[in-house]
Amino acid sequence: MMKSLKRAAITSVGHYLPPDIYDNKFFESYLDTSDQWIRERTGIQERRVLKQGGTSDMAVPAIEMCLNRRGITAEEIECIVVATVTPDMLFPSTSSLIQGKIGAKNAWGFDLEAACSSFLYALNVATRLIESGAHTKVLVVGADKMTAITDYQDRNTCVLFGDGAGAVLLEPIEDESLGLIDFDLKTDSTCGKFLYMPAGGSLLPPSIETVTNRQHYVIQDGKTVFKSAVPGMADAAESMMRRNNLSPDDIRWLVPHQANLRIISATAERMGLPMEKVMVNIHKYGNTTSATLPICLSEWWEQGLLDKGDGVVLVTFGAGYTYGGGYIKWAY
Ligand code: ACO
Repeated sequence: MMKSLKRAAITSVGHYLPPDIYDNKFFESYLDTSDQWIRERTGIQERRVLKQGGTSDMAVPAIEMCLNRRGITAEEIECIVVATVTPDMLFPSTSSLIQGKIGAKNAWGFDLEAACSSFLYALNVATRLIESGAHTKVLVVGADKMTAITDYQDRNTCVLFGDGAGAVLLEPIEDESLGLIDFDLKTDSTCGKFLYMPAGGSLLPPSIETVTNRQHYVIQDGKTVFKSAVPGMADAAESMMRRNNLSPDDIRWLVPHQANLRIISATAERMGLPMEKVMVNIHKYGNTTSATLPICLSEWWEQGLLDKGDGVVLVTFGAGYTYGGGYIKWAY
């Protein structure tokens, strides 16, 4: 039976960060790098490390926090969309594993991969699942165990990444002025070669050669990606402002993907926003890929810094390239 079409809104948030930490001194102890270089070039001071278990083991506590805050059980969830580049295994999907672990016996679900933009892509898809009337309670999870695909002999990449998970609950909302208002997502495949993980897929299945050649790790031409990420994130943010007639005063929070503090600052500057209006936690967690946006939302909500009616702009940039923005009027 077709239900009436409604706006979708985020109605709860949760996150999880594993307790173990690699600080910059850890890298100084065995690599030709320094705390000063890492702080100045990236803004990162430390990152979390999941010592045991897989991505689903971080997603589960993030979801539990999200459901507890909303006061509902896992059995009420109808669909679980998991944004990740580090699934526990290629199949079954991490969504499927999570469905079993949390006891969401009435939910179906799937994984979605768009590198650092995975969560924003997943949020867009889940928004349509609510707006279409197909579902009334959809979980969107952003979770990555980046330490599983990080080459700790490569100083260009290993200082950048960390592990973590965040989750949001989407439900229909009566008030049309609130909720998930707009998305503008892009893919530019011409630059895929600058940020990728070569082996482990169908093109280069695991072999002694791929392991010996260290092809199961993130490979990045950092400078080239940086040069694209700065205008890419800023263009995405400007597009959100233009499409929704937003001035800087209309925006309470910019929620940028946390890849590099310099990229974040450049985006805020182009938007005419002071850094006080920008969610930044890269110094504590590094780049957690699919998890950066939902961790920010959950941490800021927890501190009482997200209020009903707040204008929130999300922007991301990642491998693919994948990039884009989203505009939310915070609903609870
Ligand atoms: N410690 C010390 N020196 C280093 C380190 C390090 N950890 N890493 C690199 N260097 C050196 C380089 O070798 C280079 O040395 P050289 O001049 O002798 O050749 C010098 O520092 C400068 O290197 P650059 O790569 O030009 O440094 P840059 O200032 O560009 O910073 C960084 C590198 C941090 C990777 C930056 O380019 C960046 O943030 N890129 C974008 C990352 C991003 O947004 N990725 C997309 C999301 S991730 C995803 O989708 C999975």
